[in-house]
Amino acid sequence: MTTGPWPLTAARDQRGALTIGGVALPDLAAEHGTPLWVVDEEDVRARCRTYVTGFPGVEVTYASKAWCAIGILQLADQEGLKIDVASGGELYTALVAGVDPARIILHGNNKSEAELDQALEVGVGRIVVDSFEELERLERLAGARGTTAAVWLRITPGIDAHTHEYVRTGHDDAKFGFTLSLGLADRAFARALELDHVEVVGIHAHIGSQIFGTDPFMANAEVTLDLLARWRDEHGVTLSELNLGGGMGIRYTHEDHPVEVHRYGKAVLETVAERCAALEFPPPRLLVEPGRAIVGPSTVTLYEVGTIKPLPGLTTWVSVDGGMSDNIRPALYDAEHELTLANRASDAEPKAVTVVGKHCESGDLVREHAPLPSDLAVGDLLAVAATGAYTASMASNYNRLVRPGAVLVRDGQVRELVRRETFEDLVSHDVPLT
Ligand SMILES: Cc1ncc(COP(=O)(O)O)c(C=O)c1O
Repeated sequence: MTTGPWPLTAARDQRGALTIGGVALPDLAAEHGTPLWVVDEEDVRARCRTYVTGFPGVEVTYASKAWCAIGILQLADQEGLKIDVASGGELYTALVAGVDPARIILHGNNKSEAELDQALEVGVGRIVVDSFEELERLERLAGARGTTAAVWLRITPGIDAHTHEYVRTGHDDAKFGFTLSLGLADRAFARALELDHVEVVGIHAHIGSQIFGTDPFMANAEVTLDLLARWRDEHGVTLSELNLGGGMGIRYTHEDHPVEVHRYGKAVLETVAERCAALEFPPPRLLVEPGRAIVGPSTVTLYEVGTIKPLPGLTTWVSVDGGMSDNIRPALYDAEHELTLANRASDAEPKAVTVVGKHCESGDLVREHAPLPSDLAVGDLLAVAATGAYTASMASNYNRLVRPGAVLVRDGQVRELVRRETFEDLVSHDVPLT
């Protein structure tokens, strides 16, 4: 099972059961229950390394919003990635994970004073400034601490990247960053130059997610380098750091064909070299920030089938024991994930069924028209591919379902990564009326 959206070590054992990291998924279900996130450690580590080698000389940063659990951050950290966080909670998690604060980057379009101050206190490496208000807040907070904040300005470069295409000047109307075409980036830089406790050392531009082509990334590099060169000419200040964001696409189904990492790297690095030469601009320190591409493909969600309702001439509804509370992506983005029978092999003819969750919501979809063996039965286990990114991190307790546990598997060994919630956890924040 090395092709398609399955983790690197996914295979079938003699029973036909799906195995990951040498561990059979039915055994994991028996031991840890379902739903369960099963994370292939080798897959996560291999993807970190692929980015490090595919972008030589570039500082690769894991965008922790994709999945911010202590163990996941430790893996990325051990593989030499920096960590980007987008809230005080993500920052706290990174610190608990033991990440050196100097290797942390703080994002967010509305960071609170407390979050900014927390970042200054622990000494995060870079703060990405997203608004004029934040420039002033940082000036005041850093001044009060007698320090200077090293920041990047987040630029909205006017590149609207979709999975297969992009348009320039297409995405100026965004909540993030300083819109380049409207002159906000210029105003922000000019203002920052007047401040005593904020030092702009570079810029940041992230253009979207699940992008399959290299062109949008190349365009982003060109636009941002042009801006750096113009600022040098206009202000006599040469900024030396450029973060081109994340957004590299991954495979969720066999129909997805993402670009290989080294091709992304080559395209970006060649574009930067050419543009810098043309602009006579010294090559900046480069960073990229993949999130989904680091953890997404590493994980499967394991569910148990609870009911099967065949409606003659209509849909066959297969209900599993989780759903939109552990994976909101199908409901939120019409996302499709591939599924497979995980506890056994079957030669039965495939039949299209609609797999749904157990929530009181019609949009609680796992996968529409999934081709699964026609002998699918109650009690069977289904594995859903590529659920490592934006699933656990977006999980909820809707209908008071407990959030699943997660295990890390490798070479036949199982380590708990996230403890399954309990009913006690569910009510632990409620304050009964007295
Ligand atoms: C600023 C920034 N960097 C990186 C990422 C990671 O994107 P992805 O997980 O698609 O690589 C995001 C995602 O929203 C982002 O907003």
